[in-house]
Amino acid sequence: MRLIAGNWKMNGLQAEGLALARAVADAIRGAPPLGAEALICPPATLLASVGAAIAGTGLALGGQDCSPEAKGAFTGDVSAAMLADLGCRYVIVGHSERRQFRGETDAAVAKKAAAAQAAGLHAIVCVGERGDERARGAAQTIVLGQMAGSLPADIDPTRLVVAYEPVWAIGSGRTPTPAEIAEIHGALRHWLGERFGSIGSGIRLLYGGSVTPANAAAILAVPAVDGSLVGGASLKASDFIGIIRAAA
Ligand code: 13P
Repeated sequence: MRLIAGNWKMNGLQAEGLALARAVADAIRGAPPLGAEALICPPATLLASVGAAIAGTGLALGGQDCSPEAKGAFTGDVSAAMLADLGCRYVIVGHSERRQFRGETDAAVAKKAAAAQAAGLHAIVCVGERGDERARGAAQTIVLGQMAGSLPADIDPTRLVVAYEPVWAIGSGRTPTPAEIAEIHGALRHWLGERFGSIGSGIRLLYGGSVTPANAAAILAVPAVDGSLVGGASLKASDFIGIIRAAA
């Protein structure tokens, strides 16, 4: 099933986060079956309250990041088991904002993906090239390199989701053309097939970066696009619901 994931990033206090989650959950509850799985990833401070508000609605909960460690003296970290304990099914790892602003390397992302799966979560591993990398024709090489480096050796492909998010498309209102998305997703699909055999074809490949209700249908129609990871448009219930409907 397709997956539409909303990444709220560092947005939302309790009242507005709860209102947003309830609006999305109500829309989903009103129109089952959707034909697409819908997921929201609020900031860690909202996971407990939002999780309680959406329990049993069909809307899934996920974290935006997790510690590579299982437990212990890691001040400020949130473990994957803590996320699972709050009802999360998914966690995003290796988002470009964490790679860019928090210095996360491929190796660090791989450790987080392993920690996520050890706690029973599905890991959404993010990859994507910068604008300068695309400009010099290196997009595919960069993305496949990140992919290879960001998966632990013992990754379980049945609990893996990959999100292609070109850094230059995030929050910019600019998106790659369908042909450009098809090229990268096709390369990722091929790579996953080589690595995991037939199971690789079942790994969901999400596109992320300036997805809106207006462009969602065209993006979701691109071959090897199995859903999307939505930032800004996931903060407005009607926009996020529009994108979910485009996938259903
Ligand atoms: P935007 O949808 O705001 O471009 O963000 C995409 C993203 O980073 C989702 O993880």
